Amino acid sequence: MNRRSFLTTAAALPAIASIPMAEAKPHEPGRLLAQGRPISVSSGNGIRAVEKAVELLRQGSDPLDAVVAGVNIVESDPEDMSVGYGGLPNERGVVQLDSCVMHGPTHKAGAVACIENIMNPASVALKVCRRTDHVLLVGEGAKQFAIAQGFKEEDLLTEKARKIWLRWKENLNPNDDWLNEDQIIGDAGKLEARAEALGLPFHYGTIHCSGVDAEGNIGSVTTTSGLSYKIPGRVGDSPLIGAGNFCDNAVGAGGSTGRGEAVIQSCGGFQVVQNMANGDDPTEACLKVLKWVADHTRRHDLLNSKGQPNFSLRFYALRKDGAYGGACFRKNANGNKKYFAVHDGEKAYLHECAYLYDD
Ligand code: GLY
Repeated sequence: MNRRSFLTTAAALPAIASIPMAEAKPHEPGRLLAQGRPISVSSGNGIRAVEKAVELLRQGSDPLDAVVAGVNIVESDPEDMSVGYGGLPNERGVVQLDSCVMHGPTHKAGAVACIENIMNPASVALKVCRRTDHVLLVGEGAKQFAIAQGFKEEDLLTEKARKIWLRWKENLNPNDDWLNEDQIIGDAGKLEARAEALGLPFHYGTIHCSGVDAEGNIGSVTTTSGLSYKIPGRVGDSPLIGAGNFCDNAVGAGGSTGRGEAVIQSCGGFQVVQNMANGDDPTEACLKVLKWVADHTRRHDLLNSKGQPNFSLRFYALRKDGAYGGACFRKNANGNKKYFAVHDGEKAYLHECAYLYDD
């Protein structure tokens, strides 16, 4: 892999042309924090999240409050079909959301999975973290907890998402999300390919956001509507501490977007942070986990003709000293470059992702 040629793909972003873009180049560890600036890193759909997070960090906000407020903006946006309100539903047409948060200074965590009818699951996860002795609440229990905490119950399925889901349903075929007995080494296809064939959007969705304040305290969050058209009850990596999100206040934060099953099976977020603890810079820490995932992907239907994973997956890392990185499998997907969002304490921009494969 060539670090100087890290390239990437544009996430589906509104007004992408107006967002500053940065060339990929090696980081200078410690430089940003040494200048006393808070820093925030997010997935490509998180430019507004990092702006909000840094605005709040500058005002002295706790890092976890800052990043949750950042992702709340995207959760509440009906145009982002991968997160919160407007997210694509499960195979029954129900929007089920997952999220988790982690607070560096206290090493506390909170999460909700398969929560329905609550627009901001990241804020509910924050309540689980702060107001209970538990880490993870699921389904109806999570919803009732949210209502008790004052969250409003509302329909999260937008007309746009409902019409897309209906079209998907009208075209059901054997390439659904269920594996036949012999499909462990069976044909490629599955949901992603079917959605692509129908010209429908398909997401593993998700926004991850981490932030570090000028004292080096870290907060991190991941939130998602999960895999589009998923089997009801399916839980991805986003609400699982150590998978879609992890932070250690002595080291940094790691998070992911993309195929949650691969992240769960690799403890991806935890690996990112451990790699940094072992001396890797944030970009290298992310790339190593992608390589680990690639080395452990055995199902033929998840590999392309070159034996590389054929699904999308990205990792993001923010180190305690303010160095950051993001990486994905390949340089381009469907002709698009890939980016992650950064606020370096001065300005917000999209940064090219590092990648494992040229094509
Ligand atoms: N990474 C989001 C999901 O797989 O649900």
